[in-house]
Amino acid sequence: MLDLPRRPRRNRRNAAIRSMVRETSLSPANLIMPCFVREGQGLSEPVASMPGCHRHSLDRLVEAAREWAALGIPAIALFPVTPPQAKTGDAKAALDPDGLVPRALKSVKDALPELQLITDLALDPFTDHGHDGLMSVDGRILNDETVEVLCGMAALHARCGADIVAPSDMMDGRVGEIRSSLDSEGFENTGIMAYTAKYASGFYGPFRDALDSAPRSGDKKTYQMDPANRREALLEADLDEAEGADILMVKPGLPYLDVLRELRDRTTLPLAAYHVSGEFAMLKAAAANGWLDYDRCLMEAMICFRRAGADMVLTYGAADAARLMG
Ligand code: PBG
Repeated sequence: MLDLPRRPRRNRRNAAIRSMVRETSLSPANLIMPCFVREGQGLSEPVASMPGCHRHSLDRLVEAAREWAALGIPAIALFPVTPPQAKTGDAKAALDPDGLVPRALKSVKDALPELQLITDLALDPFTDHGHDGLMSVDGRILNDETVEVLCGMAALHARCGADIVAPSDMMDGRVGEIRSSLDSEGFENTGIMAYTAKYASGFYGPFRDALDSAPRSGDKKTYQMDPANRREALLEADLDEAEGADILMVKPGLPYLDVLRELRDRTTLPLAAYHVSGEFAMLKAAAANGWLDYDRCLMEAMICFRRAGADMVLTYGAADAARLMG
């Protein structure tokens, strides 16, 4: 061992050497665009707490999806805005074959057959109480009854062109049930992206504004995970993997990078991270005040997700990030 000072800065001295020693890469192929779809025609209604995001009517969604695909984004995740009068205790709009999601799947698949379509499986856009599952008379969220509806949604979405279904409900055993029901209906090629470690988080606030889906009573702590827990994420990951998930997800994103890394060290499955609405809103709000540089911080967040072990990131900044890479 030479008795000389180590000088790590030698590998940082110019852009070329930095590019040679860079350990992590990011490309538009790593990004997934979550998007909101609403009824109507020719409408792109801005979401106040998520500047740059819109509730698109179907025709506008197709136009937007065309732009995202042209930027190299390989997938979108669809979230429907259900009109208040269509929300019911039994969430029956979730299984409507002429519902927004089935129609959106068909139109986008028709226009852009290569673009991967991911749908959310959870009942919160469809229930009048705003919870992700069916509710008993005494206010408990019913597990197995909910899973049955999710299985119906999965088959419906697959039939209409979904490439991947993404259960975000956090009911127990849903991945296995959804897998076998998809297989039994002939959809063995439809993938499952499991919201594996989904925490009961305050960072979902702007999303719930966008869909008007905040729970009318109580909170989601009896099904979403406690932010204090790390080992429990490993249990969820083991279960989802054993039940046949194709991709595991951690959500929210930046405050949970340790969980992402734990899962990376534990599973051979691809991992997704969800940079959620509140995280996006924080960047936008600070940037609007001139307190930070949105472009720079967005790109930094993306590379940090990759460094922590994410293969893919769902972010409302997907189009911005893809443009910045272009
Ligand atoms: C619905 C769902 C939520 C999000 C994705 N799917 C909200 C929730 O669980 O309350 C949040 C996404 C975001 O905040 O960007 N189950």
